[in-house]
Amino acid sequence: MADSGTLHSDSNSRGIAADLARAADALETMQASGELAPVVTVAPASPNVPPALFGAGGPMLKRFDESTVASRKGSTAPSPPPSVKGIGKKVAKPDYSEQKIVVAMVGLPARGKSYLSNKLMIYLRWLEYDVKVFNVGQLRRTKARQKAQKLGVKENHNAEFFSHSNAQATQSRDSLAEESLEMLIKWLKEGGNVGIHDATNSTKSRRAKIEARLAKEKGMILIFLESLCDDPAVIAANVELKVSQGDPDYKDMSPDEARKDFLRRISEYEKVYETITEPHLSYLRIKNVGEEVTMSRINGYLSSRIAFYLMNLHIRPRNIFFSRHGESQYNVEGKIGGDSLLSPRGMQYAKALPALITDNIGEKPLTVWTSTLKRTIQTAQYLPYTKLTWKSLDELDAGVCDGMTYEEIEQAYPDDYANRDEDKFNYRYRGGESYRDVVVRLEPVIMELERQENILIIGHQAILRCLYAYFHHLPQADLPYIKIPLHTVIKLTPKAYGCDEERYTLPINAVDTHRPKPKAAKQPNVHPTTQRIYYVEEEVKTSA
Ligand code: F6P
Repeated sequence: MADSGTLHSDSNSRGIAADLARAADALETMQASGELAPVVTVAPASPNVPPALFGAGGPMLKRFDESTVASRKGSTAPSPPPSVKGIGKKVAKPDYSEQKIVVAMVGLPARGKSYLSNKLMIYLRWLEYDVKVFNVGQLRRTKARQKAQKLGVKENHNAEFFSHSNAQATQSRDSLAEESLEMLIKWLKEGGNVGIHDATNSTKSRRAKIEARLAKEKGMILIFLESLCDDPAVIAANVELKVSQGDPDYKDMSPDEARKDFLRRISEYEKVYETITEPHLSYLRIKNVGEEVTMSRINGYLSSRIAFYLMNLHIRPRNIFFSRHGESQYNVEGKIGGDSLLSPRGMQYAKALPALITDNIGEKPLTVWTSTLKRTIQTAQYLPYTKLTWKSLDELDAGVCDGMTYEEIEQAYPDDYANRDEDKFNYRYRGGESYRDVVVRLEPVIMELERQENILIIGHQAILRCLYAYFHHLPQADLPYIKIPLHTVIKLTPKAYGCDEERYTLPINAVDTHRPKPKAAKQPNVHPTTQRIYYVEEEVKTSA
């Protein structure tokens, strides 16, 4: 089930906490009755601060590890209970293999179909679903190139090719759409979760064919996603994007010729276009991205999430600002987690922040979001804007390691600590969270961010990494290493395909809390882009 990850992670933390409490009682009883040797206090790494009873390096946790290892020795259970040794462990991704959805786009050219496909893909991939866009235009170009190479026949894909009265071309376009759908179905069968059929699918008969084909497949859900747009400015901007951003159809034409041809192509489609009204189909119709949404027969967890996400999108210009809280007392001491106040330098940052933000945003409205932790609320205190606190924005919960330094953790649990470095995204602190857990709890924040206009988030290192990875579409493995320094404001400007970014670092010193990937591992290669990606040829090779 798609939501099992959420349920699993919450209940797992609660379960661990309950287990620890029960174990503490049991250990004390056993000690009192003489069943256990008295607890030997392990010297804490920091001489001044004794580790918490159940903290890493704490006596109870070590006793608990040893006692449960012994108790498992004689177990005859077919699958042994999960190990509780150490301060955390790698937790696998939830099983999404049952999820099989085909999202078939519907819409005239330049109506934002590829924009919606791309946003949906990024959102679902951020949540770790396996998503792929099957772009029929790309398949058409690849096939044409192969034909030209093999047979020396050069097909002309100007506006005439898209005319409904051109029977041969219409037949060729229909079979390309079918072939692309076959590739999509094959890919879903091989393990994919959501395949997006990026084509115009602009007539009832084309949609009926897709429906009939999908009816033959067990367990595949079909949703049509129509993008309507009657805003001339948006259409003009989309046309410009097409002719100026390297669309391969127009690479040999001047921008003027390309524009004319593309507008003719649109009018050819308009002649036969039928908006989606088929009452038995499952569909979502979006007008002017977010202005008006019609939903019909959308059921099930993942389909509803997809619909809810798409409903919240808009394309009004805006900025999203990210800043970590000012340097905290814990940052200075090298401790993680906690709820400490700002250091004197952190306070300086809080005082300097309003000028930086107001210089940037001018008279435009802005809302500030903070976590519920003191250091973010303190950082926001001088900002003259509406403020909201979100529990979901609280820093990654380091569980039993909360309040310790990295050195203390490493000394007390060297093997375990190395495990986190090896697979940081999947590693869950005992009694705490993994980066995946954080992504799951940030999903409502992403929904709300998509709905809102100018927002400044005063957050934490791990939290901002997760949000940043969504906006720049960065892979999970790189996410926990993204650099989000203290005393720096990151300004994102969403564009059709990605975000522009500017960073402003205030000249107020702060400690560096970034821990690079261990030397042996490859450093992440982060190259945010706003270019539309024209899907690479390898992706369509199988059909050649
Ligand atoms: O060090 C500051 C901090 O915000 C800690 O509270 C938190 O545990 C840590 O960063 C998260 O970063 P990492 O995942 O790299 O340990």
